[in-house]
Amino acid sequence: MNEVTRFPTVSKTSAKASRPPGPKGAPIMGVMREFNRDQLGFIERAQREYGDIVWMRFLYVPAIFLYHPDDVEYVLVTNPKNFIKSMSLRSNFFQRLVGNGLLTSQGEEWKRARRLSQPAFHRERVASYGDVMVDYTKRLTSKWREGETRDVHTDMMRLTLEIVVQCLFSADVSHDVDAVGATLKELVRPFAAQATLKWILNNRLPTPTHLRFHRLARKIDNVVYRIIAERRATGKDAGDLLSMLLAARDEDGSQMSDRQLRDEVMTLFLAGHETTALTLAWAWYLLGTHPEAERKFHAELDQVLGDRAPTAADLPRLKFTEQIAKESMRLYPPAYGLGREAIDDCEIGGYRVPAGTQVFMFQWATQRDPRFYDEPLAFKPERWTEDFVERLPKYAYFPFGGGPRVCIGASFAMMEIVLCLATIGQQFRLELVPDHPVSIFPAMSLRPKDGIKIVVKNRG
Ligand code: HEM
Repeated sequence: MNEVTRFPTVSKTSAKASRPPGPKGAPIMGVMREFNRDQLGFIERAQREYGDIVWMRFLYVPAIFLYHPDDVEYVLVTNPKNFIKSMSLRSNFFQRLVGNGLLTSQGEEWKRARRLSQPAFHRERVASYGDVMVDYTKRLTSKWREGETRDVHTDMMRLTLEIVVQCLFSADVSHDVDAVGATLKELVRPFAAQATLKWILNNRLPTPTHLRFHRLARKIDNVVYRIIAERRATGKDAGDLLSMLLAARDEDGSQMSDRQLRDEVMTLFLAGHETTALTLAWAWYLLGTHPEAERKFHAELDQVLGDRAPTAADLPRLKFTEQIAKESMRLYPPAYGLGREAIDDCEIGGYRVPAGTQVFMFQWATQRDPRFYDEPLAFKPERWTEDFVERLPKYAYFPFGGGPRVCIGASFAMMEIVLCLATIGQQFRLELVPDHPVSIFPAMSLRPKDGIKIVVKNRG
């Protein structure tokens, strides 16, 4: 890794404290209120004021923020055994939503689930999903009309949900995709208030939000259990992830229960669609605000594809489209932060970190750090040359996380993003509606607060 200067950690008490410096916060609440008033602003300020490692307290819970790629690498890659997923992923709401699926499980249970799911994400297998990705994109755009105004975020959410369900479970949810999409959207709403008292109460007590959450979760369960039951009934090996999971046997010959299957399917429903949809939505926004990049994008599509629909085989030549995807995820990382909890005392950046400390790392901050990116706030897809990637400290860019818990769907997502961008960009220009405000709503993922409104223009 390249040598990169650290921002000095600025202690307000003594030159070298055994605990990293950080905001004192309010007597009982710690930094909870300040953090929730403006999460992204707080994350940026903390680094500016205290350096690369910042200590703070949310109520009674100690937490550190890490900003330096070396420290991110230490937690995710060098010493991942010392960290489990952070408290919020173990909350009642999260457990109810995805149970013990791949995202949330730990230890041996996680290893087994990862081993079972991995073949569905092997390179050749992923390449075979390309046609589904392009077909569903064309189905969506066949309904678009010249001059109409659409919310491209909503469109991308619908599209990526259909794609993931079709690729991994061979289930066409087109007829109920709107209901499923709307329910998922409602379900994740309370997560916007994580790290607030409201969140803690709603998790534990039968408040209206709590009851509504459980009602919606049951609704989604019905769809997921239906998909599982239909497949069990046919006994057919569709060669997809669902068939692999259904066929899997433990050493003692036992199968996955419906409940375990449901947790895995639900995890992929959630992890596999919103993040990709957000990348697409932000990419359209960035292209809409950068005409020069948009022209270059269209020129690449015309040159590589002409009038022919893209396939997985075109990916190596859709270089600029891939650079757009990378640069969009740098500026607007759908997962803008990652959380862990230290299970044993350890040392990070010279500081002792006691067991139980929540450890947070932020793609949002590190990927906009001027030490690693010149003009860090500028949208410059062409910066992603091979040479640049080689020079970049590895964990200065980690939209998919890293180490053993790295996103299992990373290559699936990259292919989906490039193919969807190409299929749409080949036919249309998405012109941003000028007076529609676009702002960020950080709530588990980085969403556009009021969607992204565009006018559809046919490319002549
Ligand atoms: C742009 C799109 C995506 C982004 C930015 C993204 C980001 C991430 C990140 C940051 C993690 C690591 C979480 C952690 O370490 O705590 C993760 C894990 C995961 N992602 Fe993705 N993801 C994307 C697309 C997908 C897709 C398409 C799928 C499935 C089809 C998927 C399935 C998963 C699963 C199952 C995990 C948990 C893996 C494990 O712990 O073994 N993701 N993702």
